[in-house]
Amino acid sequence: MDWGMTNRIAGIIAPATGRCLMLAVDHGYFQGPTTGLEKPGETVKPLLPHADALMITRGALRNTIDANLLTPIVLRVSGGTSILQDDLSHEDITVSVEDAIRLNAACMAISIFVGSANEKSTLVNLSKLCDKGQRYGIPVLAVTAVGKEMARDARYLGLACRIAAELGAQIVKTYYCEGFEKVVNGCPVPVIIAGGKKIEEREALGLAYRAMYAGAVGVDMGRNSFQSQWPVAMIRAVRTIVHEGKTDAQAWETFESLRG
Ligand code: R5P
Repeated sequence: MDWGMTNRIAGIIAPATGRCLMLAVDHGYFQGPTTGLEKPGETVKPLLPHADALMITRGALRNTIDANLLTPIVLRVSGGTSILQDDLSHEDITVSVEDAIRLNAACMAISIFVGSANEKSTLVNLSKLCDKGQRYGIPVLAVTAVGKEMARDARYLGLACRIAAELGAQIVKTYYCEGFEKVVNGCPVPVIIAGGKKIEEREALGLAYRAMYAGAVGVDMGRNSFQSQWPVAMIRAVRTIVHEGKTDAQAWETFESLRG
């Protein structure tokens, strides 16, 4: 692998541990001012010291984040739909690789919609993005988006993750499911889980633990971090699972002591 590509991935997935705690705040690209992200810069400020990478759009990055930030940026480069549509799978590439480079992106993130009406175009877009990433040494993170009608089971997510890796993604982000080890085992690149909708903190810690135990390299929790009443305590507790090998029960103790 090219030096630049390897170096950028090393900034996201710590080479010493092979683990990653990402903070996702890119929701506005189709959800608008998501609860907790009305002012993304203010939301992420206390959380960034505990995150290995920040997943964000170029608009939120340029307008709300201090450019002196040293945290690696995973730049959302797909979009073109909104929550007003029934079908969210009409995404296209919305950021040029030149702009990703200008923003010093460590990685470019794109959603794929396997099984949707737009499966082909999102998979071809992923492939084209991987070509551009290869040209400039920028890794691509493929997000396996799940439509309302699709089952979040190991068979479906395993299929979507494997296709993403086969088409060239260096990292895959997906959802946790029963039998998650099958998803990981069938995917030749590192797998990170998304948190999904806000759930109780104890439950979210359980989700993070089960995903790591099943072989995920990391967690990219957005809403379950920044929508918590105690966001710093939450991200720090998740961090103990990802980087210190703690169980969810131990992380819960950490969370309880930190939230005071
Ligand atoms: C959704 O498509 C976005 O890419 C989010 O980054 C992703 O869903 C992770 O955030 P959350 O943990 O809130 O699900």
